[in-house]
Amino acid sequence: MSGAPDIIIQEVCPRDGLQIEPVIVSTERKIGLIDRLSELGFRRIEAGSFVSPRAVPALADGDAVFRSIVRRQGVTFVALIPNRRGAERAIAAGADELNFVMSASETHNRANMGMDHEGSLSALAEVTATTGGRIHINATLATAFGCPFEGEQDEGKVLRLIEAYLRRGAQSITLADTTGMANPKLVRQRVKSVLGLVPRDELTLHFHNTRGLGLVNVMAGFDAGALRFDASLGGLGGCPFAPGASGNVCTEDLVNLCEDIGLNTGLDLPGLIALSRELPSIVGHAAPGQVAKAGRACDLHPAPLRITLAD
Ligand code: COA
Ligand code: ZN
Repeated sequence: MSGAPDIIIQEVCPRDGLQIEPVIVSTERKIGLIDRLSELGFRRIEAGSFVSPRAVPALADGDAVFRSIVRRQGVTFVALIPNRRGAERAIAAGADELNFVMSASETHNRANMGMDHEGSLSALAEVTATTGGRIHINATLATAFGCPFEGEQDEGKVLRLIEAYLRRGAQSITLADTTGMANPKLVRQRVKSVLGLVPRDELTLHFHNTRGLGLVNVMAGFDAGALRFDASLGGLGGCPFAPGASGNVCTEDLVNLCEDIGLNTGLDLPGLIALSRELPSIVGHAAPGQVAKAGRACDLHPAPLRITLAD
């Protein structure tokens, strides 16, 4: 399909997908995966993170990855960062955009980032002060729909933290459902409120399929006015510092759904399915996504062979 996409899907497999894998994928294979992804029509790929290598050993080679991937016109390569050190490393390696992360839940933020809200917000202020407008800064609010330690997250707190992000120079916002605690009703409510603070072109929703609600949450968010969604090839992913974490919404499952209901994604679904089918050889286990196993509904199986026995 050509023309402007109706929905923007940002691929996060190279970051969220690989950060929780027990095997450390080699730098060359990461580069190969990102280069293949960037041929499939994505405008945005989160290609790695620049965090403490002790916290996330699987992504310790972000510098080498960003330096070696093929830059394709129109593709923004995003780097996740927790602090100024991460921002400096990411910029030196050639990232096009920074994705700063803090959790709505202070308990999860301490587990994930070793900081309270004040610590993370000062880190963001430092990042915007040092980068001085040289690079776009997105800020993600993790556990924005619920936290495995604290449970429900109050909407007033979520909105206050987004305002705090915007005051410190964040130019766009992601609401992340780190351990799949959102549901369509909550998503509709939260998206409507957040769209009062953030324009729809600058809001991304990031869902995990931990309780099987990933795709319905995307559709609820889209119906409520959101346009941009994160997804991960094969449905890999999860936060290593959140108990019970599991994979993101699966990219090819989401693209398949969009195609079935007539939403243009600008992505090459057969190419995504083919690449997803290679994931087991990269991570050493089957991926949770479903369309790569079943194929598209329009890929009809040949009719069973009728065998006529000679009499
Ligand atoms: N890149 C590389 N190294 C970094 C770094 C960065 N962005 N920020 C800090 N470090 C190093 C420090 O230099 C220090 O190294 P040392 O022990 O060799 O001296 C070590 O990491 C610890 O840093 P410190 O400032 O003492 O804080 P900490 O141990 O509380 O860790 C974070 C804080 C934020 C660096 C760490 O919790 C982290 O990287 N979290 C990210 C988790 C993540 O990626 N989760 C999934 C995505 S949301
Ligand atoms: Zn995630």
